[in-house]
Amino acid sequence: MTIRFVVMTDSHYHPTAIRDWGAPKMLTQSGEALETSVPAVNALDADFIIHGGDLVCGGGSFDLPTDEYEHSIRHVAETYGRLQAPIHYVPGNHDCDAQTGSFDSLFSTFTMPQILDVVDVAPGVRLALANLYHRDPVTGHWTQELDEALRVADLAAKKDGAALLLVLHEWIAPGHVRPGDDYDTGCVVHADRLRATLVECSSVVATFSGHRHVNRLRLWRDIVLVDTACLVGHPLGFREITLDDDGFLQSRFHVLDCPQLLASSRARCSNEMNQHYAGEELDRNGVVLAPRYQQITGG
Ligand SMILES: [Fe+2]
Ligand SMILES: [Fe+2]
Repeated sequence: MTIRFVVMTDSHYHPTAIRDWGAPKMLTQSGEALETSVPAVNALDADFIIHGGDLVCGGGSFDLPTDEYEHSIRHVAETYGRLQAPIHYVPGNHDCDAQTGSFDSLFSTFTMPQILDVVDVAPGVRLALANLYHRDPVTGHWTQELDEALRVADLAAKKDGAALLLVLHEWIAPGHVRPGDDYDTGCVVHADRLRATLVECSSVVATFSGHRHVNRLRLWRDIVLVDTACLVGHPLGFREITLDDDGFLQSRFHVLDCPQLLASSRARCSNEMNQHYAGEELDRNGVVLAPRYQQITGG
């Protein structure tokens, strides 16, 4: 059986932005990107959708007033309410109310994990949806509670012969590490703990992250790491992922039909930086063996 799903992340909807903030984001046009993403995703008729967080521009850098934050939550919910496939969310570091650090409005509007939720999405396939912000609203931590919850989910999945797809906002393995940098620069706090747990939790076949607005498709040990760029600037798109019984995971990157927005975003950066965000061809449209999935399916 083939499972086909969409991965999108970092919509960063801002209702009243008067500047675009850090590249490649184009926050003054975030409404256009949000609106355009719905028919583009619906056209794929996927089995389900994953959203990797940073739906809005709340806590962290943006300092949105509470009334605008509340408005943005409602607007994203109404817009994504038109998506035809079931959608599953995790929170990002910009999804709380910047004024209070509260996730209450987000959690009462969207179904989000308090710590870690496990959801059946296809025969023999489950999402493990992680909330990295249950301790601190703007700095992601792979906490002891998350670690224990993932181990419980792994035991249950092994017992049932199911595969887990871990969804979390921040990165697990670093990108560029310069001399003198901490190895885990740019990763979730306690990424080392998470990596050690992933080695043992063999039902986790792949992980899905956003946050750094970069496309990356990697086989780390026997786990597929999928990092996806933002929906509000270059390369301005989302992934369609196909998981086959033979154990192969294939990505196709779909670019939103917003040519002016894309050109404006590209014009903000050098070619080198734009390539960094977009990733290499195989980061966008690659196919890799997911060895753990192959073992589970017997493919
Ligand atoms: Fe983001
Ligand atoms: Fe983020």
